[in-house]
Amino acid sequence: MTEEILDLAPLDELLDKVQQEESGLIPVLQQAQDIYGYLPKEVLTHIARRTSLPPSQVLGVATFYSQFHLEPRGRHIIQQCDGTACHVRGAKQIIQTMQEKLGISAGETTPDRKVTYEVVYCLGSCALAPVAVIDGEVVGRLQPNKMVEMVDKLP
Ligand code: FES
Repeated sequence: MTEEILDLAPLDELLDKVQQEESGLIPVLQQAQDIYGYLPKEVLTHIARRTSLPPSQVLGVATFYSQFHLEPRGRHIIQQCDGTACHVRGAKQIIQTMQEKLGISAGETTPDRKVTYEVVYCLGSCALAPVAVIDGEVVGRLQPNKMVEMVDKLP
C-alpha cells in the first residue's frame, strides 16, 4: 500500500492552540483524529515532538482507549454484535457471511475504505437480537441475506 502524504499544517494549528490552552493529551488526540479520521504514526510522532512527551506515552494513550484508531477507517462503520443473545440467535453466521462478502476479517476495513466491520459484545438491544449498528443506526432481527442487502445499498 502506498503511504499517504499527510498535511501536518492543520495539526500544527491545533497544537499551537492547545499549547496556549494547556489541554491534556486525550483532547489533543481526539481533535487530531477528527482532522485525519484516524491517528497515523506520523501524527502521533509529531504530537510527541511538539508536546515534548515521550512517543511511547503518546502511543500508549492512543492504543489504550478504544475511541482512538491507528488504522484508516471506512466511510461506513458496521458494528456487529456477537454478545450472548445475538450469538445464540445466529450472529456467527452473519459474521461469517459478512467476512466472506467483504473479503476482510472482523475488525478490518475494506481496501477501498468503504466499510469497517467490527464485532462488539452487546449493543444493549438484546430483544432485537441479532443486532448490528450501521453508521450509528441500530438494525435488529438480522439475517445474513438482509445484512448483505443493506451493505449493498450503502453508497
Ligand atoms: S447481546 Fe447483542 S445486543 Fe445484547
